[in-house]
Amino acid sequence: MKLIESTKVRNTTLQNRIIRSALWMNMADKDGHITPQLYKVYDELSKGELGMIITGYTMVDPNDRPNPGMMGLYDDMFIEEHRQLVENAHANGTSVVVQLACGGSQTNHPDFQDRQLWGPSSVQNRVTKITPKEMSRDDIKYLIKMFTDASVRAQKAGYDGLELHAAHGYLLSQFLSPFCNRRTDNYGGSIHNRARIIYEVVRSIRKAVGEDFTIMVKMNHDDYMDEGEGLEVPDAIEVARGLEKAGVDMIEISGVNETSGKGIGPARTKINKPELQSYYLEPTKQIAEAVTIPVILMGGNRQFERLQQILETSRIQYFSLARPLLCEPDLLVKWKTDTSYKPRCVSCNGCYREGEVGCVLNEALARKSKKDMA
Ligand SMILES: Cc1cc2nc3c(=O)[nH]c(=O)nc-3n(C[C@H](O)[C@H](O)[C@H](O)COP(=O)(O)O)c2cc1C
Repeated sequence: MKLIESTKVRNTTLQNRIIRSALWMNMADKDGHITPQLYKVYDELSKGELGMIITGYTMVDPNDRPNPGMMGLYDDMFIEEHRQLVENAHANGTSVVVQLACGGSQTNHPDFQDRQLWGPSSVQNRVTKITPKEMSRDDIKYLIKMFTDASVRAQKAGYDGLELHAAHGYLLSQFLSPFCNRRTDNYGGSIHNRARIIYEVVRSIRKAVGEDFTIMVKMNHDDYMDEGEGLEVPDAIEVARGLEKAGVDMIEISGVNETSGKGIGPARTKINKPELQSYYLEPTKQIAEAVTIPVILMGGNRQFERLQQILETSRIQYFSLARPLLCEPDLLVKWKTDTSYKPRCVSCNGCYREGEVGCVLNEALARKSKKDMA
């Protein structure tokens, strides 16, 4: 197997095994419409000869927005503008899937909601201090419908598929965490009960979009919380198997509940030695051993030759990168001419700073503050 070879996942063709991992840009307008500035970002990425682009996380429910400046797919009015983004990617040979997300109590943007935020249980979020409403059965049905309707819109817009965001402590990920999920009904308790909502979302989407649409899930291998509070590898393996059974085509493995209170996130800093790269390699290998669908290794992937070696020596089949492609959208083009090329990204997380987007090392992406964008 080679990094640069064409493969198929369901009916999606990937021209190589390098994927852009989801990256919220804080550039959509206040309702979630795509701005010229955001089209430009995706245009640049599209020219980067990547196997697949996963968009930044996108709202499925206008009453749930984990961050400002997210794109929307919560209404039919968004279909046409997404079509343009997709057509640009396809014109350049790159497949593109949209990431769909709900945040629940993990939000930097609580003022936008018309209703109380939802959670699996009414447990105060350690960082945002928001105490959500425990979701009723009807709320769960509504949420499944919101994800499903947005998926149908994504299909109409021409996306090759979608990725459900079930990682990082957002709403679907909270169901998997015993700390956030204290339910006593069949959505809480055992790992299969805690994962049930995600399986139901997947099945509902599959029924609505049919067989010709790729469904992916981004999930944690571990929430990095105190023992017993978060998802851990043995349960993550069970979830991965359950997702495969539910009809998921590919899984991207991440880690960390961002509101664990430990001040850690999935984007590690100071990846300044080769041994600090590809930091979720071991658990991702384990999960890839447990399922037959392809698994994506994410987090700190920085060396082409190392990724090629992982591909040859494990069951991991795809590799996603976020920050390095913000810094250099044409990184893969450079790697194709020189596999030893060292990406410029220094994993400083300057891109993450609240209210700002961009990269200090990418001049084309001028850094703008929230104020500049208003
Ligand atoms: C500015 C920024 C925005 C991000 N937005 C998202 C997002 O919308 N959805 C998501 O699943 N992960 C998001 N992430 C996490 C990345 O997808 C990725 O998991 C993380 O940056 C580690 O990969 P890397 O070392 O290649 O950057 C974001 C990361 C950064 C730095």
